[in-house]
Amino acid sequence: MIDSTSIIGRAPMGPFVVAERTDWIEPDASEFRFQETGCPFITNAFKTQQLSDLKGRVRSMDTFIPREQGDLLFSLVRHLKPLQTIEIGLANGISALHIARAIRENGCGHHWAIDPYQTTDWHGVALASLRQTGLDSLVSLDERPSHWAVPDLEEAGGRVQFAFVDGSHLLDYVMADFMMIDRILDVGGLIAFDDSDWPAVLHVIRFAVTNCEYEVFPTGVVIEPSPFRPRLLTKLARRLVHGSARLQRIVRRSFSIPDAERGIEGRCVVLRKTANDSRHALQGQPEDF
Ligand SMILES: C[S@@+](CC[C@H](N)C(=O)[O-])C[C@H]1O[C@@H](n2cnc3c(N)ncnc32)[C@H](O)[C@@H]1O
Repeated sequence: MIDSTSIIGRAPMGPFVVAERTDWIEPDASEFRFQETGCPFITNAFKTQQLSDLKGRVRSMDTFIPREQGDLLFSLVRHLKPLQTIEIGLANGISALHIARAIRENGCGHHWAIDPYQTTDWHGVALASLRQTGLDSLVSLDERPSHWAVPDLEEAGGRVQFAFVDGSHLLDYVMADFMMIDRILDVGGLIAFDDSDWPAVLHVIRFAVTNCEYEVFPTGVVIEPSPFRPRLLTKLARRLVHGSARLQRIVRRSFSIPDAERGIEGRCVVLRKTANDSRHALQGQPEDF
């Protein structure tokens, strides 16, 4: 047990607890099934687009993940049966509600949520929702930015098997979030990125699958697929590049290999950690991604 006030910072929903169990076993990926969360509170929130804050005031739900994406997070946590999950970016708590609901149905696990603005900008809306649904005992909140909170968790020996990244969307912050989570994610664990189709997030995903020990986890679900299809000219140019070793050295991989071909599609891409990082620290040049 960790004293939240001394080591991990503010945790209004109870102290951060580092799971004593370390016996997590990765399930067979072929057993993954997409399923609906089936929570009346969540159904009502999406219907009314309203939630209450900690003082009982009704607030409009302006920032949140789509319902199907919530179901995807729920399904992933049901599948993995993780001992510990982590989320960067709590906001209205829609993602946290789905994750915590899955933890309750699993009968094991705990969720760490990180967001520096929950009780200020967000008026504690997520905390209130988690309390109303009786899920609050399954969640701890660290109200500090992720670059303070996650390293403390690592230092305290914290490990996770599932992570959801939805904090700052600046390239350097998303990359830092990925790097910090990689350090505490068990091999076989999953990391899901919100807004995977935003350039900064896409960049980090491409980097992870090209330079780190990650592969796309095939969920069979594409959240908000892009309506754009490559033009004929783009297809022809790609064919040209594929046929020429010289062009392949010059043209960026992000152009020559379409993301969809690598399984990178839609708003929520999920990556599986295949091994621990074994790159040499002075390797320098990353492989083109
Ligand atoms: C898009 S919202 C998250 C939505 C939430 N996942 C949901 O489904 O309701 C992004 C959140 O990231 C938080 N955030 C911004 N910078 C952050 C940082 N450096 N560390 C952690 N959270 C951050 C914001 O306060 C905001 O709540």
